[in-house]
Amino acid sequence: MQKTIHVRVPGTSANCGAGFDTLGLACTIYNDLTLTLTDRPGVQISIEGEGADFIPKDERNIVWKSVRYLLDKAGDTTFKGGILRMENHVPLSRGLGSSAAAIVAGLKAANTIIGNSYNRHELLELATAIEGHPDNVAPAVFGGFTVSLMNKERVECYAFMPKNNMKYVVAVPNFPLPTRKARAVLPQQVSREDAIFNIGRASMLVACLCRGNERMLPYALDDRLHQPYRASLIPGMEDVFAAAKKAGAYGACLSGAGPCLLAFTPNDDDLAHRVGESMRVTFANHCVRSRVLVLDLDRRGAHIINHE
Ligand code: HSE
Repeated sequence: MQKTIHVRVPGTSANCGAGFDTLGLACTIYNDLTLTLTDRPGVQISIEGEGADFIPKDERNIVWKSVRYLLDKAGDTTFKGGILRMENHVPLSRGLGSSAAAIVAGLKAANTIIGNSYNRHELLELATAIEGHPDNVAPAVFGGFTVSLMNKERVECYAFMPKNNMKYVVAVPNFPLPTRKARAVLPQQVSREDAIFNIGRASMLVACLCRGNERMLPYALDDRLHQPYRASLIPGMEDVFAAAKKAGAYGACLSGAGPCLLAFTPNDDDLAHRVGESMRVTFANHCVRSRVLVLDLDRRGAHIINHE
């Protein structure tokens, strides 16, 4: 007895400036997973693309652990082993939600094979339990732009499609930055002034996206709660933000915990590529090699490609 499913999950960018641990968006870069569940024990994993040389290919693999987590939660006793084929495009440990994509891929694939025991909100709850916070897993599950929060143990989330048509330009530095390290530099306390600064900007960002108005975006992407502290880990960060704006971006911010930097630009391919090039060159001036991704908003979130 065996069943196979192919799922696709988008990469994500959490925080979006001031919305620390709360806001997120899904973008058009994807990890694919083909999962075969069998009634025989054992796991076989093959990986192409990002992380192929580093990601564990045994029981420690996070996709497989997520598959097992869901099967155990659902009380499934049919499936004991699996064959996983992954094709990864989301860069690893760069702030584009690679671990969220892995977790959501495993959960979505296993859930589909057992007949959708869980709805999407329940998948979000399960993914958050594994990841520890919802800001990347929410857009990976739902697509679009997400506002999510923890209310005691429960995850609350709204996903919506911004009215603005924009490009999302990402400069991907050639070094990884573990989220743990990027959180270790953050202060335990922040001033009331900085808290107010962020509340205003995070709220303004959501308002801009709901209204389809870009006028306030140059301010709405600023932050005082995490980016200033993380700047020391990402050489040239502030200069790259300034270069992106000078080249025509509405604004720019750290993608998740970094080190990727994300610029919101008008929906114009040439302009978006010029913004990307200016980000790359500015990073290079700070001795950081990077590559550029010009992405759109992903509107679907995790989805099935085919059943076998
Ligand atoms: N909100 C997280 C952080 C992003 O900035 O540390 C990683 O999920």
